[in-house]
Amino acid sequence: MKVFINKRIPEIGIQKLEEAGLEVTIPKEDDLKQEEWLKYCQNADMILNVGQNKYEKDFFEQCPNIKAIALYSVGFDHVNIDEANKRKIPVGNTPDVLSKATSDVAFLLMQTVARRASYYFEKVKSGNWGSFDPLQELGQELYGKTLGIFGLGRIGFEMAEKCKKAFDMNIIYHNRNRNEEAENTLDAKYVSFDDLVKSSDVLSIHANFTDEETYLFNASVFRKMKPDSIFINTARGGFHNQKDLYNALIEKEIWGAGLDVTNPEPIEDHDPILELSNVCILPHIGSATVEARNGMAKLAAENLIAFSKGEKMPHCANP
Ligand code: DGY
Repeated sequence: MKVFINKRIPEIGIQKLEEAGLEVTIPKEDDLKQEEWLKYCQNADMILNVGQNKYEKDFFEQCPNIKAIALYSVGFDHVNIDEANKRKIPVGNTPDVLSKATSDVAFLLMQTVARRASYYFEKVKSGNWGSFDPLQELGQELYGKTLGIFGLGRIGFEMAEKCKKAFDMNIIYHNRNRNEEAENTLDAKYVSFDDLVKSSDVLSIHANFTDEETYLFNASVFRKMKPDSIFINTARGGFHNQKDLYNALIEKEIWGAGLDVTNPEPIEDHDPILELSNVCILPHIGSATVEARNGMAKLAAENLIAFSKGEKMPHCANP
């Protein structure tokens, strides 16, 4: 069977696929144009997808040969799972292996914003170290503060655990389902969405994104947050309305924001949020560690190999 991989992944994944007797095609160009990408897909039996290519009804109609898709990501918001289900196409994803790395980035952003590190870094880089000033541009400490997690799954749990251990933060969360492990081991409290927004000193998003949650975090939500609170999004840019977030920061409705995901991605270079000193923005690097990316390559390959043997994918996004 033929596997199309649209971008090079760590060798461990390619090696596994080839050892399993699968024929792997990887184009030389890194960023294929849509038509070229589609042509490669039309010539393949299975896809190992890197990035946010969209798999909607028209894709499945144009590529009737595709039998399985393995995503090189835990998120599967770019795939219309109902359309895949109609055609009995399994869609694999890569949970767990990136939970530590992604929650590390949420933790990093939280501290960066709390201590105004990106502002000070820019000062140093531009030759404006300045003299010791007891009052100017002070950061804030996180000890004993309240961390609100929106979406307490694997990544949210890792973030909550780190915050508990490092700063003895109180954990509150809002989720589709109750997370008993977090309630028992981290003393996490389930709260309504409204209470989460109103009570969090740090509000961190770790949920799977669906279209219904587009701009869930908007002007009316930011207005309810505490003026000293920090907004962190390492999940998907679609969760927040970036213009509303900018306004909330300018109006000092919240203290600062840390984003590893933006809307759109890459962020537009004239987006005014880039000018704000109380914001730290990273280019979607949550899983960008050697360990996580190797793990993702391994899981994505294992998903396709299992399918090629007529077995169920070990990590499947289809219900
Ligand atoms: C994921 O795995 O979903 C990351 O966000 C990379 O897309």
